[in-house]
This record gives sequence, structure tokens and C-alpha cells, in this order.
Amino acid sequence: MKFSSVLSLFSAIAVTAAAFTSYAKTSGSVFSINGKKEYFAGTNAYWIGFLTNNTDVDTVMSHLAASKLKVLRVWGFNIITSAPWSGEVYYQKLIPGSDPVINTGTDGLQRLDYVVKSAEAHGISLIINFVNNWSDYGGMAAYNSYYNLTDTGWYTSAAAQAEYQKYIAAVVSRYKTSKNVFAWELANEPRCAGCATSVITNWVKTTSAYIKSLDPNHMVCIGDEGFGLNGGTDTSYPYSAGPGTNFTENLAVSTIDFGTYHLYPSPWGETDAWAEGWIKSHAAAGLAAGKPVILEEYGPVNHTVDLTWQSWVMSTQTAGDMYWQYGDTLSAGQTSQDGNTIYYGTAEFNTLIAPHAAAMEAKAV
Ligand SMILES: *[C@@H]1O[C@H](CO)[C@@H](O)[C@H](O)[C@H]1NC(C)=O
Ligand SMILES: *[C@@H]1O[C@H](CO)[C@@H](O)[C@H](O)[C@H]1NC(C)=O
Ligand SMILES: *[C@@H]1O[C@H](CO)[C@@H](O)[C@H](O)[C@H]1NC(C)=O
Ligand SMILES: *[C@@H]1O[C@H](CO)[C@@H](O)[C@H](O)[C@H]1NC(C)=O
Ligand SMILES: *[C@@H]1O[C@H](CO)[C@@H](O)[C@H](O)[C@H]1NC(C)=O
Repeated sequence: MKFSSVLSLFSAIAVTAAAFTSYAKTSGSVFSINGKKEYFAGTNAYWIGFLTNNTDVDTVMSHLAASKLKVLRVWGFNIITSAPWSGEVYYQKLIPGSDPVINTGTDGLQRLDYVVKSAEAHGISLIINFVNNWSDYGGMAAYNSYYNLTDTGWYTSAAAQAEYQKYIAAVVSRYKTSKNVFAWELANEPRCAGCATSVITNWVKTTSAYIKSLDPNHMVCIGDEGFGLNGGTDTSYPYSAGPGTNFTENLAVSTIDFGTYHLYPSPWGETDAWAEGWIKSHAAAGLAAGKPVILEEYGPVNHTVDLTWQSWVMSTQTAGDMYWQYGDTLSAGQTSQDGNTIYYGTAEFNTLIAPHAAAMEAKAV
């Protein structure tokens, strides 16, 4: 048999994976996924729940499985603030003057249902996020305009939090028994500029306890960028509490299972080499808290720097890493190119992504 036929045989096996039989959980500083304690690499494809073609969803999942990208982070939110265009996929409607709507239709959460179903069929775990700090896909800003709030008013508005919790309950109830949901995530990159860090910490406590009351079986994480932790002699902005988060205090919340952080040195005004301290200090904070920590977004991916970043991940107690962002070629062409996309099957993917995913899987626990 030719080597290429052996490979296609293996991909055929990969696509017939059965749904997981146990919930993902923490095990010291790493995770147990479907009963196996392991390090993992994964990625982000925020857009997958907005695709309207099931074959496209399956294509992505089978490519992830074939590449050993085990955990996929997706947007579990999509809010519109004016009438949808024909065929537009949205999960929530917050139009001032009308009652809030949660869309459970075929152009709504049923699209996310298919993502979960396909993840189950392909042996992929999902991190599902509930709201964006940024205004893409509505975000906190959509609630703020609906409830007449200031930019940072979202975290403490009873009305906005009640609607956010109602939405969380709607999503959690759909996938509560799916073992392919890795974790529920409170928000994408929550910040509260100019606020005391207690504002976000209190919101983290309340929301994570609420999710655990609905669903005690799945893990819960925050989705923050990892700002506000002790950087030793490095006192650069990301280590400060300026963005409104204290990484150490948030990780200590009992209903938060593991820590998340992101890494974007150039957009943050830091050098690529600065990443070394950022990766090491978060790994150390996880060890100190007795919880796993994952690098859940990193970019822009660049041949010169990524192999170095990945080597720091490998040499520290970092439970998993997930590059931003995954790309693929689907029925409508290439998926979102935001300047940070690495497309499946390209030379960059084959040198920077797939070998690292295999190395994370092989790393001894
Ligand atoms: C998200 O965070 C940024 C940075 O602090 C802030 O400028 C922006 O207004 C935030 N979005 C909302 C809706 O609070
Ligand atoms: C927001 O402000 C508008 C205009 O003042 C008002 O009509 C509306 O009722 C307010 N909405 C809420 C939720 O307070
Ligand atoms: C975060 O909280 C810890 C523990 O309360 C404190 O020691 C640390 O200084 C805080 N970090 C920042 C950046 O405020
Ligand atoms: C990648 O990063 C290195 C180090 O910062 C830089 O010198 C190089 O120009 C970057 N390459 C590309 C293609 O952006
Ligand atoms: C869905 O995608 C598949 C695979 O790319 C394609 O063959 C099919 O025509 C698409 N269906 C629609 C309705 O676009």
C-alpha cells in the first residue's frame, strides 16, 4: 500500500469518531479529555456557527481532527440590533423598542446545534463563548445601546445581566449533556477600562456560579487576555490592572476551572521576544493557583516568531494553546482573513501548526 493510501485510510477513520463518553475536566495542571490526560493544541474559528452549509462544518471538523487540533473555540453569540437581512444567521435580537429575542430557529441556534453535532462526530472539543467585549457580532455594546448603558455599565446593570443570563441558560440547556463541550466561556476579552478590578471579578464570580448551578458537569473559563498579573521586573501595560482585570484574583474564583490568556505582542506595543515572559508568567500563575492555564489566542503568526513561542509553550506548564485563527476553503471560498489567518493545507499550516499539534499531543504528562 502506498503511503498516501495509508494516510487517507487514517483520515477515513478519524471522521467516524464516536461522541465522547466523559466530560472534559482538569487534572492538576492539565486536562483529561474524553478520559485521557493530555496536553493539546487547538484553534479558533469564531465563524463556524454562522455557516449555513452543514458540509462546510463537517469539512472543518474533519480537517481539525486530521491535524490533531483538538479544541476549537467558537462564538456562541451573535446579536443583531436591527432587522436581519434575508438569510442572515443571528442568535439574539436586541432592537431598542422591541422585546429581546433569542433565535432558536433554523437561522439561529440550530446552526450552533450542528457545530456541536459535527464536533461529536469528529472527536473535537468546543469552547463556547457567550458575549463579546468588542462590538463584532453585537457584543456588550448591543446590550448597552438597548439598555441605555455607558461603555463599562454592562457588568453591573441588573437588566443587562438578566438578559445575558437568560441567553446563557438558553445555550447551556441545548448542550448540557454533550461531552464534546470542553468549557463554557463568559466573554471574549472582557475589559473594563478605568474600573476597579473588583467589577470584573464580581461579575466572574456571579456568572460562573450561575453557570455551575445550571450545569455542574462542564468546566467554566473567562476568555480574558490575561492582563493584570505579577510580571516581576516587567511592569509593561499588559501586566497592569489598567484594562480592569486581575488575572490572579480571577483565576482564584472557585467556580472558574482554568485560566485563559491571549498573546498579541505587536498590537499591544510589545516586541515578539516579550512573549517569553508572558508565557512563563502565566504558566507560573497557573501552577501557583493549582489550575491549568491555556494560551487560547496567539498571533499574528509569523514563521520567525511562532516556532519560538511554541517552544516556550512546550517548555512550560501550559496545558494547551490555540492559534488565532483557523482558515479553510469552503463552498463559498476562503473563510475570514483578518490578517492572522492560517489556512488548512498551506505551507504555513503544514510547518507551523500541524507539527506543533502533534508535539503537544506527544508531550508526556
Ligand atoms: C471593550 O474593551 C475596550 C478596551 O477597554 C473598550 O474600549 C471598549 O469600549 C469595550 N467594549 C465595551 C462594550 O465595553
Ligand atoms: C432608553 O432611552 C430611550 C430614550 O430616552 C427610552 O425611550 C427608553 O425607554 C430607554 N430604554 C431603557 C431600557 O431604559
Ligand atoms: C492582583 O491581586 C493580587 C492579590 O490580591 C495583588 O497582589 C496584585 O497586586 C494584583 N495585581 C494587579 C496588577 O493589580
Ligand atoms: C516576523 O517577525 C520577525 C521578528 O519580529 C520580524 O523580523 C519579521 O520581519 C517578521 N516577518 C514577517 C513576514 O512579518
Ligand atoms: C455545501 O457545500 C458542499 C461542499 O462544498 C457543496 O457541494 C454544496 O453545493 C453546498 N451546498 C449549498 C446549498 O451551497
